[in-house]
Amino acid sequence: MTSDPFTTSGPQILASILSADFAKLGNEIDEVLNGGADFLHLDVMDGHFVPNISFGPPIVKAVRRATRAFLDAHLMISDPLRYAPALVEAGADSLTFHVEVVDDPAKTAREIRKLGCGVGITLNPATPVESIFPAMEFVDLVLVMSVVPGFSGQKFMAEVLPKAREVKKRLRPNQRLEMDGGLHHGTITAARDAGVDWFVVASAIFDKPDRSAAITQLKTELER
Ligand code: DX5
Ligand code: ZN
Repeated sequence: MTSDPFTTSGPQILASILSADFAKLGNEIDEVLNGGADFLHLDVMDGHFVPNISFGPPIVKAVRRATRAFLDAHLMISDPLRYAPALVEAGADSLTFHVEVVDDPAKTAREIRKLGCGVGITLNPATPVESIFPAMEFVDLVLVMSVVPGFSGQKFMAEVLPKAREVKKRLRPNQRLEMDGGLHHGTITAARDAGVDWFVVASAIFDKPDRSAAITQLKTELER
């Protein structure tokens, strides 16, 4: 890992490789990191919690070999604790689990913490914000989903912004607020204004012919 994003303040752009060309993943990663993305977001999906299957530990391991950048893994899976050790072993630096799949989110957060990685909790757009409160003291980050998870390229759901504000009010200075889904140059400032620190972006980077220009445009928007 090059730098620790939990001690770095200021907005961070996380390139989500879900929209990358997996046939040339190493080149894709180099391109976005050289183009200004701060670190990577890895969407692990099991075809059960979400209606899509992406990748698991073998790809995380391959990504780890390709870069020293921080790897933020978003677990869209029904049984996060079952796969957490293998994902950390593969090289993930933080694991974020969905509150919808666990009975005791504080306990899940503490179990993940024991693996020696960063810990995040996330919630779907329809999930009430109160559901994460019992776990908040045990996590490093809260990810507020701004689309129903499963696919990249969906429309930003502005109705989650009040939830992000509610979370932000309760975070300690060393905790981060992350947002994921539908972020592009037209929506990213609304997320920033709600207090978001980490901005996950897939299609608005990877679907563009010039990834570096796309990242620069996002950063310029954030500085306005
Ligand atoms: C959605 C994933 C996101 C996705 C974002 O289920 O969790 O990380 O890659 O894609 P965009 O930025 O295209 O909305
Ligand atoms: Zn994600």
